[in-house]
Amino acid sequence: MGVKQQTAVAHPNLALIKYWGKRPGELNLAATDSISLTLDGYRTATAVGFEGGLEQDVFTLNGARRSAERVTKMLDLVRRETGLRCGARVDSRSTVPTAVGLASSSAGFAALSLAACAAAGLPTDVARVADFARRGSGSAARSLLGGWVEMRSGAHDDGSDFTVGELAPGNPWDVSVVVALTSRKAKRISSTAGMNRTAATSPYYGAWLESAAADFGNAKRALLEGDFQAFAFLAEHNCLKMHASAIASTPPVLYFEPATLAAIRTVWELREAGTGAFFTADAGPQAKVLCETKDRPRVEAALRATAGVLDVIAMSPGPGAWLR
Ligand code: DP6
Repeated sequence: MGVKQQTAVAHPNLALIKYWGKRPGELNLAATDSISLTLDGYRTATAVGFEGGLEQDVFTLNGARRSAERVTKMLDLVRRETGLRCGARVDSRSTVPTAVGLASSSAGFAALSLAACAAAGLPTDVARVADFARRGSGSAARSLLGGWVEMRSGAHDDGSDFTVGELAPGNPWDVSVVVALTSRKAKRISSTAGMNRTAATSPYYGAWLESAAADFGNAKRALLEGDFQAFAFLAEHNCLKMHASAIASTPPVLYFEPATLAAIRTVWELREAGTGAFFTADAGPQAKVLCETKDRPRVEAALRATAGVLDVIAMSPGPGAWLR
């Protein structure tokens, strides 16, 4: 097989209906179906080249050598599928801050899986690449696609009915996401560890799972019907349930900082004053606020004036991953 270097570019995505918890097994199938919005702004470009004679994968992020453990785990799947035996040189350039809850892994593993499939001569259609991306990091499968995306685990244990798909292509709403940066410190516990601990110890994990399917169905309907308020309200409620289940773990899985709560209050005050803004938060302290683009200046100003908010970053919907 010809071995050549390939580069893929991907953007992070923001989950509005969350994946939190895994089904049993090695395939990293989510216990809950999710809906996300791929964002522009930050991006990751990753070059992969399998090199005969290279015994181990060599991974650099923005020029600095990093542990290749998670990269190797994913590339092993590609090697198994193709019979390739050699290591790969993986050079990733990312503008996404890592490990602070800005979905760096979603863009990272989307770009890595697409570039690796192309470099190994495997098909690069979304359905095939998504299987690899998901096993690197569940949320990464959604970053292969642009705009509003659904990820469904299906019912089969072998993952054969797992799908990702674009919802409402053409974007039903002119929306923006305004991120209130509340901490630059690395998050206390990774999303993988956080969700596993929630599943293992939280008395509310069962309740989270029970209501997740209804949230997904209702949010998808609201999205397809173009009902922004209904969708965004469900997204906020879904986020709070995810965090409530996590907080009730032992030891607690608490991602919020005081400024996260202050930003949430700001969002609620904006709503009381008539601005349709809704927050969500992932496995990190940043508050991410969904609003219509016409309201973005007001949302940005209010978040900037919130105690403890270090910076405010506005983003728009972005495209799926592509090969460069
Ligand atoms: C809160 O995709 O990072 O962002 O599959 O273990 O790598 P792993 O988890 P990851 O978890 C995402 C959790 C979340 C919600 C979401 O993106 O749906």
